[in-house]
Amino acid sequence: MRRLLPSFRLAVLVAAALFGAVPEGRAGGDPVVVGVVLPMSGDNATFGEESWNGIKIAEAEIAKKDPSVAFKLILADEQSKREQVGPATKTLIENNRAAIVVGSVASSNTMQAAIVCKEAGVPILTPASTNDKLTSEVEKYGEDVFRVCFQDSFQGTMLGRFATKTLKAKKAVALVDKGQAYSVGLAAQFEKEFVALGGTVVTEYYTSADKDYTTLVQKVGGLKPEVILISGYYPQAGPMIKLGKDAWKGVPVIGGDGLDSPDLLPLAGETDIKVYFTSHFVASDTDPLVQGFVTKYQEAYAGADPGAMAALGYDAMYAVYEAAKKAMAANGGATPTGKQLAAALRGLEFTGVTGKIVIGPDRTPRKAVVIVQAAGNFQFVEKILPE
Ligand code: PHE
Repeated sequence: MRRLLPSFRLAVLVAAALFGAVPEGRAGGDPVVVGVVLPMSGDNATFGEESWNGIKIAEAEIAKKDPSVAFKLILADEQSKREQVGPATKTLIENNRAAIVVGSVASSNTMQAAIVCKEAGVPILTPASTNDKLTSEVEKYGEDVFRVCFQDSFQGTMLGRFATKTLKAKKAVALVDKGQAYSVGLAAQFEKEFVALGGTVVTEYYTSADKDYTTLVQKVGGLKPEVILISGYYPQAGPMIKLGKDAWKGVPVIGGDGLDSPDLLPLAGETDIKVYFTSHFVASDTDPLVQGFVTKYQEAYAGADPGAMAALGYDAMYAVYEAAKKAMAANGGATPTGKQLAAALRGLEFTGVTGKIVIGPDRTPRKAVVIVQAAGNFQFVEKILPE
């Protein structure tokens, strides 16, 4: 026993260093175990890093201001690999006894996590997965999938309107990653709106496994579009923009939140192409709530600006906290179970750094979309509220 003590103390110290203070003398009993599954390595690593950074800021803040509820966060890396998500989620639930799972980012990966959560009867809250099916296909993903982000039927519609009304485009080429539910779904929603407004869309497919996009980029240029939608993620979008330097000259590129990464511009390189994307948050937004978070993030992470993923991670942690408080109030202060957290998430309302969040009956908030221009840095263009 004595020999175990130092390592136990070390573990607590490490936990305290990683997750903020470990509160002492709480009234609520055991901590709420939050299993976090994110892409901390692999292709989409900036998504995981940024969300985790946001979650940690929120967790430290909560630990400081409210000793009545404590959280134990356990992070599992799904490595940006779909086949890793199920096992990682299972471990969080079975070994770590997570009451709720927070994650993941890419919609196809979150779908894998949701299937495991459904079987185990544990709720899942995704900070960032926007595919509509996650919350609409209840048979497959269960009743207890929640999100703090908008969904692609909204994001895609706004992209369609932006392309038509602001960019005045009538002819679009959509580049679709056929292996990603997010990419397929977002492009379909864009097309629906763009066509309804009088435009035409030609779709070209790619996958993230393709080694070289030169032929594809040339082909797209040859179709003479007035706008190019890259409905995918930054590790592919960045290199495509770079390759399009000549072939896409003068044609604006648009995309969804999958382009929102600090790695997008370094991958795209110097370019004259105008790049716009829809997102949840942009650090250049002058909204005081946004600026407050930007300052906190810069202080915590060596002056770095937070991207949308960081803001959504922060809001997701706050959603768990608000739900835990609500559940504790309804259950005599006892540490909430997963089921109680799920009940509390229904109808939850709070103001996050990505806007006002009201989790409605479809477990998806109605929120503003931000249009961002990626030119040297991420510039705020406009914020559009849902009708
Ligand atoms: N919305 C994307 C998806 O569902 C994930 C994402 C969100 C990426 C926010 C970046 C920023 O796959």
